[in-house]
Amino acid sequence: GNVTVIDHPMIQHKLTIMRNKETSIAGFRRLLREIAHLMCYEVTRDLELEMIDIETPMAPMKSPAIKGKKLVFASILRAGNGLLDGMLDLVPAARVAHIGMYRDHETLEPVEYYFKAPSSLEDRLIIVVDPMLATANSATAAMEKLKERGANNIRFLCLLAAPEGIKHFTEAHPDVPVYTAAIDDHLNEKGYIVPGLGDAGDRMYG
Ligand code: PRP
Repeated sequence: GNVTVIDHPMIQHKLTIMRNKETSIAGFRRLLREIAHLMCYEVTRDLELEMIDIETPMAPMKSPAIKGKKLVFASILRAGNGLLDGMLDLVPAARVAHIGMYRDHETLEPVEYYFKAPSSLEDRLIIVVDPMLATANSATAAMEKLKERGANNIRFLCLLAAPEGIKHFTEAHPDVPVYTAAIDDHLNEKGYIVPGLGDAGDRMYG
């Protein structure tokens, strides 16, 4: 599958602080937002430009601007919102989709409780964000939902992934490139990433 590990030293350093169980909720939330800035920069680095006409105070000129329709960020609630906030700092005009999902603690199957997306998803770049890719059940369900609504150009951005989740996701959605800051050792029997950072939603919101 198409998986990119973004190993920029700033991201790796901040991720280490996030993993540390001594890091506070305030610290965790702030670091996730900062990492989102750095990851957003990487996930958008190949966007196509077009030359547009503008006038500076000195002269008219042609200058590069991002081509095509506005980006869509899709956040898988709750924890996705931590990445979303940072992405929106960098791309304030992006459209936003919210996908409410939690994992059933017994079956690890995702339960959807909310879905709201901009009306036209076709031919837009959609960047789906969720800090954790564990079994990948949540992320694969989110992709299905978005594809049903016409999405045909999707990228998935997470902070941490389990090898099991990467395998499941790339097999289910080979057309969706994955960007992550780290691929950890394994999933435990409760579906948590090990060593991971615990439950991202709880560490951010309590
Ligand atoms: C976590 C995480 C992902 C999902 C990953 O959310 O934010 O959405 O689990 O697990 P999976 O790959 O096995 O599906 P959780 O269900 O804890 O909900 P929350 O973010 O609302 O706390």
